[in-house]
Amino acid sequence: MRLDYLTIFPEFLAPLRQSLTGKAADKGLIELHVHDLREWANDRHRTVDDAPFGGGAGMVMTPEPFGEAFDALGIDGATVVVPTPSGAPFSQALARELATRERLVFLCGRYEGIDQRVLDHAATRAEVVEVSLGDYVLNGGDVAAVAITEAVVRLLPGFVGNAESLVEESHEDGLLEYPVYTKPPVWRDRAVPPVLLSGDHAAIAAWRHAQRLARTAERRPDLRHVAAALDAGDLDVRPAQPADAEEVAVLQRACWLSEAVANSTLDIPALSEDADEVRRGFAQWQTWVVRSGGRLVGSVPARASPEIPGQWEIGRLMVAPDLQGRGIGRALLAYAEAAAPAGTRRLWINTGTRSAANLRRYRRAGYRARPGEGRFAGTVDLVKDVPGADAIS
Ligand code: ADE
Repeated sequence: MRLDYLTIFPEFLAPLRQSLTGKAADKGLIELHVHDLREWANDRHRTVDDAPFGGGAGMVMTPEPFGEAFDALGIDGATVVVPTPSGAPFSQALARELATRERLVFLCGRYEGIDQRVLDHAATRAEVVEVSLGDYVLNGGDVAAVAITEAVVRLLPGFVGNAESLVEESHEDGLLEYPVYTKPPVWRDRAVPPVLLSGDHAAIAAWRHAQRLARTAERRPDLRHVAAALDAGDLDVRPAQPADAEEVAVLQRACWLSEAVANSTLDIPALSEDADEVRRGFAQWQTWVVRSGGRLVGSVPARASPEIPGQWEIGRLMVAPDLQGRGIGRALLAYAEAAAPAGTRRLWINTGTRSAANLRRYRRAGYRARPGEGRFAGTVDLVKDVPGADAIS
């Protein structure tokens, strides 16, 4: 993975050369390129900011140095990451997503932010993601870029010897981590919980799991309901009712917004359908909705193809954006696949040509993209043959 940073404080990025990210660079797993944005400032004072049009406090970073840096470095096909308090919340799911990219270019803003045209222009050549570390304001994007880099780079294959240590940690499955202890067994009159010294691996695993649930419930009640439900295998999946249509219409918009961005089009029916249209869809597609803690968090429709005998079609598979990356989509896909009637020979699904994350997910689930344009403009069809059935030619 190649990582570029455009900053006016290159020294803020120096920690990346330390510790494990530094080792990853030494090993050739990542290439780090830190650039002083002022190199591309053309005036005598190497100015990179100016007063905002329309008035208001503070200064705005001017577009020219960024534009020249883009031209010099090339950003085509890269993922441009812009740390900003107005971005989408950073999460382990987003870190996992970014870890699949070949090149990340960080734009480290200062002052009141970066002229919007820089991002609009970058979006014509690259994928642009605006990311917030949390609901607080830092002095600039540099520290956030370091934090995002650490979270992403440690997920790269080959970064850590023990892949299990990645799976078993906070947020990987929506639960916080259990407390950990090491020698000595008693320290300042505090003993390590005896179960950890028992040698009983099943008891230790059970204790740790209980600790994770208790901690998550206490500290992050917002995470617990889905994690616990997934854990118990009892997400509440039911056939959609007409009364669910309003919530499905809202979920649909939330889910298809990223598709619109990825595919550079608003011409996506799912974005503009209202609840009545969604309700009519329920009549044509067998639809399931999934709830967690009462909230509708996902849905999936499926039907036997009216044109191709033996083809079971899976429609708009959706998971609420804040809950993606926890296995709900995988579970729903499996649910819709399992509902295929006897005699099904092929499973079919469709996604945007540039919806890289969906394409990866479906490939992982055994689907293969069919060459050429899919059923709708700008989409690709993916199919999976049912094992043991005659393939559809
Ligand atoms: N830049 C300033 N504040 C930030 C935040 N909370 N997250 C990411 N980048 C920022």
